[in-house]
Amino acid sequence: MDLPVSAVGADPPTDLTPRRILVTGGAGFIGSHVVARLMLMGSQVRVLDNFSTSRLENLADAAYGGLTEADVVSGDIRTQEGVEVIHQWQPDVVVHLAAQSSVPAASRSPLYDADVNVFGTVNVLDACARGGVRLFINAASSDIFGGVAAHELPVREEHPIAPVSPYGVSKAVGVHYLDWYGRQHGLSYTSMVLGNVYGPRQEGSDCGVVSVMADALLGGRQAVIYGDGTQTRDFIYVSDVAEAIAVACHHNGVGTVNIASGRQTSVNEVYDTVREASGVGDAARYEPLPWPDEVRNMALDTRKARELLGWYPKVGFTEGVRMTVRDVRRRQAGSPNLSPVWALSHS
Ligand SMILES: NC(=O)c1ccc[n+]([C@@H]2O[C@H](COP(=O)([O-])OP(=O)(O)OC[C@H]3O[C@@H](n4cnc5c(N)ncnc54)[C@H](O)[C@@H]3O)[C@@H](O)[C@H]2O)c1
Repeated sequence: MDLPVSAVGADPPTDLTPRRILVTGGAGFIGSHVVARLMLMGSQVRVLDNFSTSRLENLADAAYGGLTEADVVSGDIRTQEGVEVIHQWQPDVVVHLAAQSSVPAASRSPLYDADVNVFGTVNVLDACARGGVRLFINAASSDIFGGVAAHELPVREEHPIAPVSPYGVSKAVGVHYLDWYGRQHGLSYTSMVLGNVYGPRQEGSDCGVVSVMADALLGGRQAVIYGDGTQTRDFIYVSDVAEAIAVACHHNGVGTVNIASGRQTSVNEVYDTVREASGVGDAARYEPLPWPDEVRNMALDTRKARELLGWYPKVGFTEGVRMTVRDVRRRQAGSPNLSPVWALSHS
């Protein structure tokens, strides 16, 4: 597993050392890296996931780190039964990653997106507020800021929230509810505004331009660039996000905090980097942007994360792309089965 070594977990326990951590969406792309990282801290970790976009196999690393079949709760965050684990198991920290996570899918189906990202999030928040949870860690997105003028980049946390897509709206609503639960119920929270997260185990044609391009090139297909490719995003490697969450678990809530690289990378640069790492591929095909509400440029200011959490990204883009391409190559080759030992009895 490509996780940087950190001091978190090696220090003597304090009042803020989490005993029990529940990770909603813990079997997903980011969640599975987070769960594997949290297992290294010696905390008890449980996963709540409905497996709508994820697979049990994603938890192989975590299983080797000690996660058991009993620690994986199959349930939906939109139901009372789904969040019952919060009342019964009484985690002191909840890391909320379960979501409808695709920007294009939210535009195709805003109702479903709102159901999961708004209703589901409020359902989890409400259970946490009533269940005495010490800290709530949320996964927001740079899409909450909408289009930002070039002179305002990289965006600071105080920047006005002004989403332009249904996904950005549903993520922004979650942020406003967090604020309300914080003021009304005293729920301490850290709301991470994530850049474009990429890395091993990211799958699906709707998500993750790095994986999508690597999958095309290694599969012998031409990669597609929508627009002229000069649009930029702030890319952050998944182990850096997992590390930020692990560190945040040992603090009280710090409010909204950007977790990103702080720099813009254009889609054309992404393609060049993926092509170099793959060692294959001709020129990409350019097609018109299918999304009228596409944000042009994005980068997030990460100074607050460094100041309050002591966190900063450690994996450079070229290195991160190489590790992602290696994972796509392994998957396409039908690698040896990495399923958790208990996967067969669970499914
Ligand atoms: N990947 C990114 O670039 C990125 C950027 C910003 C924010 N985020 C946020 O980070 C979080 C994790 O994203 P990801 O990229 O790992 O996506 P993902 O789709 O891999 O993970 C989401 C997980 O939530 C689960 N889930 C979905 N609906 C559920 C429901 N109703 N009940 C229980 N579980 C449910 C899925 O099965 C999956 O395991 C999401 O909140 C996403 O919005 C992701």
